[in-house]
Amino acid sequence: MNILFVGDIVGKAGRAILYARLVSLKQAYNIDFTIVNGENIAHGKGMTLKLYEELLSNGVDAITLGNHAYSKSDILAFIQKSKHLVRPLNMHPQTHGKGIQEFEVKGKTIRVINLIGSVFMDNVVETPFEAMYQLERFNKDKIVIVDLHAEATSEKMAFAYQFKDQCAAVLGTHTHVQTADERIIDGCAFISDVGMTGPFNSVIGRDIQEVLDRFNGNFSKRFTVSEEPAQLCAVVITIDEQSMRSTQIQRIQIRPEKELNNEH
Ligand code: FE2
Repeated sequence: MNILFVGDIVGKAGRAILYARLVSLKQAYNIDFTIVNGENIAHGKGMTLKLYEELLSNGVDAITLGNHAYSKSDILAFIQKSKHLVRPLNMHPQTHGKGIQEFEVKGKTIRVINLIGSVFMDNVVETPFEAMYQLERFNKDKIVIVDLHAEATSEKMAFAYQFKDQCAAVLGTHTHVQTADERIIDGCAFISDVGMTGPFNSVIGRDIQEVLDRFNGNFSKRFTVSEEPAQLCAVVITIDEQSMRSTQIQRIQIRPEKELNNEH
């Protein structure tokens, strides 16, 4: 079984490259199930009903979120009844939506869990470690995929070593920069960060000049999403259906054509 996980989709440019590439990626890697992190999809922050439905109609099966899960209040109207949205289980407020969703694929249960890191992150109710300890008995006999939405690579890596036996994959998101440390740890696929699907010429998705202004002392400007062409960052995880353990993780990074032509 092959699972595609696409990293943080940022704004219009991120959506455009996802929709342009998803069908061919699914064919090329023989994908059975597609997860995307969508917490930055609505102009850099949050999710709307329109974009949620657009993702599903384009062939996405599950959508994880993060610290911006509730940045658009629109989500409160549909997250409760959504079967495809997964919000960080250990993040305040815990009253809206679910931190775990299960899906039946090829006779197996894929259990998608979204957790938020406790280092440098806000609104954390309990650490991802504390949250995961409580789930152990429910994770049995399932293909457990964790999106650990976190800032610190050390926290994500430590989590993977701690919970490798109950997870088929621990995939980091949030930093928007793809790391080159993908590996299989005793049957658990791991990467510190899948990376961003969003504007290539940007500062983690934001307009470059606005970020420069902020770092040079002008705090009056609000950041907007860059309109530049996007890159797509993802991983493909191959899972042995008998053991329900991962055997391979492949990193994907597609840059805009203009940038590829400039490479030496
Ligand atoms: Fe985030």
